Amino acid sequence: MMTDVEKTSHSSYEAAIERSAKIEKDILVNPKKYRVLTGDRPTGRLHIGHYFGSLQNRVRLSKLGVPTMILIADYQVLTDHDAFDKISQNTKELVIDYLAAGIEPGEDVIIFPHSYIPEANQLMLPFLTLVSNAELSRNPTVKEEIQSAGLKNVNAGMYTYPIHQACDILFCKGTVVPVGKDQLPHIEITQTIARRFNNKFSPEKPIFPEPEALLSKTPSILGLDGSQKMSKSRGNAIMLSATEDETAALIKKAKTDSDRHITYEPETRPEVANLLQLIALCTKETPEAVAERIGDGGGGMLKKELTAALNEELRPLRAKRAELEKNPDYIRKVLLDGAERARAIAKATLDEVRAAMNMVI
Ligand code: TRP
Repeated sequence: MMTDVEKTSHSSYEAAIERSAKIEKDILVNPKKYRVLTGDRPTGRLHIGHYFGSLQNRVRLSKLGVPTMILIADYQVLTDHDAFDKISQNTKELVIDYLAAGIEPGEDVIIFPHSYIPEANQLMLPFLTLVSNAELSRNPTVKEEIQSAGLKNVNAGMYTYPIHQACDILFCKGTVVPVGKDQLPHIEITQTIARRFNNKFSPEKPIFPEPEALLSKTPSILGLDGSQKMSKSRGNAIMLSATEDETAALIKKAKTDSDRHITYEPETRPEVANLLQLIALCTKETPEAVAERIGDGGGGMLKKELTAALNEELRPLRAKRAELEKNPDYIRKVLLDGAERARAIAKATLDEVRAAMNMVI
């Protein structure tokens, strides 16, 4: 069955892929022309799905010299999580994972929690007046999240968080947002808000650029059960912070199938294909080549190869992670420095916005 997100107008998805590919090329030549804004909710440590799906790409873009803002969505996490006792701890865990993966904070690479940026949050008020109730309740990603969380009483924060996400992206005039397909509706509403704001309040001199999605090229990583997306809450993930022995034990239990001969057939053998894909991401081979090599070695050899490849790939990251964990003061400093830089940007934007709305007395 097609989900709502998959039903999102096919042509708009195709168009987003095309624009994304164009930006991908131009970014190599003009990295400073862009500003990347990405974010995560602080729900816990990151796993290898995040690593291959988004972290590596963020590291690559920041190393290309693209100004990069990495936002920790600590307000947004309240929309679908009752628990808030671990927000601070989870925020720091995220930073440790980012730095361990190779993000280097500094002048042009800024990591910050959005709750620390009041001027960005204040954009919420004018932005809410630029969208209709109908638009909010039509958002396919929000609808799906409500459904999959089985929420009976949906809080208003849930319907409005895409607008808050637009504040995240627009306060710093982000132009490129690396995301998966599920986030496209949020990018579209952000473009709409930027356009409507400019047209209404500042038609001569547009204030906000319309951001574009940079769509991930890594196929979505399935969990070790092979049936659904990797996620900590489904218990099918390998955390970046896992030890080598824990990694080996998890892979040992991973689901395969009864055919001893290893082939790469994502449609008919998704579990085996997923493990092959993971090896390929570590060794930079194609999954087909990995399958060829293992052949009659069977599931046992497949798992042994994956354990070795993944542990080798993650060894430097894990060593760095262990070092960073010993230095909580440094982690806190990264966040506070990032918040200070982000706040200066947000203040400048809010000044422009309030002037455009004729609110300066
Ligand atoms: N909604 C995103 C998620 O659930 C997190 C997020 C918050 C985000 N603000 C953002 C992503 C801005 C990109 C840009 O993963």
